[in-house]
Amino acid sequence: MEWENINTYAKQWVKEAGVKIRSSFSTALNISSKSNANDLVTNIDRDVEKFFIEKIRKTFPQHRILGEEGFGDELDHTNGVVWLIDPIDGTLNFIHQQRNFAISVGIYENGIGMIGIIYDVVHNELYCAMKGKGAFINEQHIPSLNETNVHKAIIGINATWATENKRIDYRKIVPLIQNARGTRSYGSAALELVYVATGRIDAYISMRLSPWDFAAGVIIVEELGGVASNILGEKLNILEKSSVFVAKPGLHQEILNQYLLK
Ligand code: IPD
Ligand code: CA
Ligand code: CA
Ligand code: CA
Repeated sequence: MEWENINTYAKQWVKEAGVKIRSSFSTALNISSKSNANDLVTNIDRDVEKFFIEKIRKTFPQHRILGEEGFGDELDHTNGVVWLIDPIDGTLNFIHQQRNFAISVGIYENGIGMIGIIYDVVHNELYCAMKGKGAFINEQHIPSLNETNVHKAIIGINATWATENKRIDYRKIVPLIQNARGTRSYGSAALELVYVATGRIDAYISMRLSPWDFAAGVIIVEELGGVASNILGEKLNILEKSSVFVAKPGLHQEILNQYLLK
C-alpha cells in the first residue's frame, strides 16, 4: 500500500512539473553554464528540482533525495528510500529544440529500484513502472521485450563513442555500428532508456551517465525483461557515475561478448 501511495504522489508531482515546464515555453529562459560552455542549466531545471524537493520533504520527511542541480542531499549510502531526480534530462534539447527532453524520477529502497517515472512533457507521455507490477505509458500496459540480435537491432549511441575518446577504445564500437541495422541518438538518456523499454530501439549505450540519468529508466527496462549493466556487464550503482548499457535479452549478451568485452 505504501508504494502505491508514493507512486500516486510521484506521478502527480511529475505531471505538475510538466505543466510548469510547458508554460516556460512562452517565457525567456535564464541560461548559464556549469562545468564547461556546453554544460548548460536553466532557471527551469532549478525551479523544477526545488519543486520536487519541497513536495517530497513535506510529504515523506524520512526520504532522501539526490537531484542533478544539487538542492537535495549528499548521498553516501543507499539505506532507506532515496529519490533520484533529473528535473530536465536533455537540457540542450530543451533549450535548442523545446522537445526531446524528459523529467526523470527514480525511487529506490535500500539500493533496489522500486518506482521509475519518465515524463516526455511535450508528447504528454508518462512512462512508469513499479517493481513487479508491470510498466505503462499513460496507463497503457507496455508488453515485455523479446530477444533479438545485432543484425536486426537499432542501437542508441552517441557518435562521440565511435571517435577517439577517453572512455572506451572506439575500435570496439565501430564494428557494432557496422553490423547493426541502424543507430540513433536522441540526446536524452531517460528517453533513450524508455525507447529501449518500448522497443523503439533495441539497445542504448553511454560511456558516462550520472545516477539521476539512469535511475528511473533502468527500472522500467528491467521490469519488461530488458537487461541493464555497465559496459563491463556489472550491476549499476546509484551512488556512482558510470557507463550504462541496456538492451533486449539475448542482444545484451551478444553485444557484451562479441564487442564490448572483446
Ligand atoms: C544529459 C543527457 C544526455 C547524456 C548526458 C546527460 P542533462 O543529461 O541525458 O543524453 O548524453 O550525459 O548529462 O544534463 O541534459 O540532464
Ligand atoms: Ca545537466
Ligand atoms: Ca540528465
Ligand atoms: Ca538534467
